[in-house]
Amino acid sequence: RTVRIIGAPMDYGANRRGVDMGPSAIRYADLADGLERAGVDPIDDGDLTMPRAEERDPDADQPRRGDAKFLREIEDVCKRVRDRVATTLADGEFPLVLGGDHSVAIGSLTGSARDADLGAIWFDAHADLNTPETSPSGNVHGMPLAAALGRGAFGETEWAPAPRLQESSIAYVGLRSIDDRERELIRESEITAFTMADIDQRGISAVVDDALAVATDGTDGVHVSLDLDWLDPKTAPGVGTPVRGGVTYREAHAALETLSRRDEAEGILRSMDVVEVNPILDEGNETATLAAELTASTFGKRIL
Ligand code: ARG
Ligand code: MN
Ligand code: MN
Ligand code: MN
Repeated sequence: RTVRIIGAPMDYGANRRGVDMGPSAIRYADLADGLERAGVDPIDDGDLTMPRAEERDPDADQPRRGDAKFLREIEDVCKRVRDRVATTLADGEFPLVLGGDHSVAIGSLTGSARDADLGAIWFDAHADLNTPETSPSGNVHGMPLAAALGRGAFGETEWAPAPRLQESSIAYVGLRSIDDRERELIRESEITAFTMADIDQRGISAVVDDALAVATDGTDGVHVSLDLDWLDPKTAPGVGTPVRGGVTYREAHAALETLSRRDEAEGILRSMDVVEVNPILDEGNETATLAAELTASTFGKRIL
């Protein structure tokens, strides 16, 4: 299996500079080596180029100021990510997108759901279901799932909604920080939400099995979106929006190994993004190292 690494050093969606260095930090943490040891062939596409945020006006072309900052830039980047992902899949390769902030997932999801019915598993402390209308921050990294589902103002765009992604094929794993408006949105949606409390009560493996059941039911493949703030900040300090009470190092590995075992048996995995690593806030590159290790586990790296 060939895994094509697509770097998307974008930070327009987050309010902290630094996630733009995520792809470099994850590569520096021996991502390619880990993938080879997992038994796959990595090909590195390098990074998409993007203008510096300092040169841009966050509120340009906004319907209302601050609703969705840098939306014009994010659209441009996500369309390029989308096309790379779709081309990679058409070539029979596996697209691995390195963020960057979580808004790059709009590109991964729209690209991966172009020619297939897509399921998605969202490993994250956050729900990322805000629309420009509900967002408390205006940061688009809190909106990628809403965008891919064509909710709110995203529904009026041609680029954001993912053509073949249904709410009922999406599962959250590890939620613990949800805005008030988002809580209503989740309740009213058909998305399946597993919170940290579910992991406490049932254990990570059972929860991931259930998430897999949701994402594989009636779909052609599964997209894995791994936001590093899913982990506890003691284990993954290099993220812009840390929330305490996250999964442990072992729980994270167990989750991704569960995906990997299922994939080995049935070939379910289709695309992946690894996002929100912020090297400026990290301690000795440990969060990027964790990101690289967890990615290798997803592709089949085992202890023995
Ligand atoms: N819910 C908050 C917001 O909308 C935080 C989102 C954080 N998202 C992330 N991908 N780290 O601003
Ligand atoms: Mn998050
Ligand atoms: Mn589209
Ligand atoms: Mn996120």
